[in-house]
Amino acid sequence: MSVPAKRLYALCGSLRTRSTNRALLETIRRLAPHGVEVEISGLIGVLPIFNPDLEGDLTPEPVLAIAREIATADGLIVSAPEYAHGIPGGLKNALDWLVSRFEIPGKPVMLVHASHRGDFALEALTEVLKTIGTDLRPETFLRVPLLGKSEDEVGAILRRQETEDAIRAALVRFAGVVPVQPVSR
Ligand SMILES: Cc1cc2nc3c(=O)[nH]c(=O)nc-3n(C[C@H](O)[C@H](O)[C@H](O)COP(=O)(O)O)c2cc1C
Repeated sequence: MSVPAKRLYALCGSLRTRSTNRALLETIRRLAPHGVEVEISGLIGVLPIFNPDLEGDLTPEPVLAIAREIATADGLIVSAPEYAHGIPGGLKNALDWLVSRFEIPGKPVMLVHASHRGDFALEALTEVLKTIGTDLRPETFLRVPLLGKSEDEVGAILRRQETEDAIRAALVRFAGVVPVQPVSR
């Protein structure tokens, strides 16, 4: 019987087409080792603004969709820029929808960051991810400074041997601590 691949679901805090955080996540997906699949969420930008009145039976379909993706993921990868010393609103909105649900508690999380700055957001994100009960794995944190680089420079940095080695090493560390979800796919 073949072993199912570990599925990692990535949340990108930037919706920008040329987002450096997304470019980093796409490189992570490209370099995923054998037996690990990475999918980047396309749902953060379509979630309505969180309203506790709409939890339970009234939960909007896009929220149920992202919750299903998270339920069937063995781990999450989160990458976000810093906006005004904080977490980007879209990502925080997604996390707010997930706070009271069952999918998030205990879910392993690898935090990655595409800037040499942004420590306020990283600190806030760390606090929020811990508060909502994820299993944030600090040993898998990965920072690739791409802020202020041109598209060509971003591509060149992401293709450097040392960058690829660091990404592969972080992914292997993360895959090693991620148990396969019992939820059927
Ligand atoms: C509205 C806005 C606010 C920002 N605030 C900060 C900030 O407080 N600190 C910081 O280091 N960078 C800040 N930045 C810069 C972004 O973090 C930076 O451009 C980042 O690389 C964007 O990520 P992306 O390329 O994935 O979109 C801000 C950018 C925008 C658009």
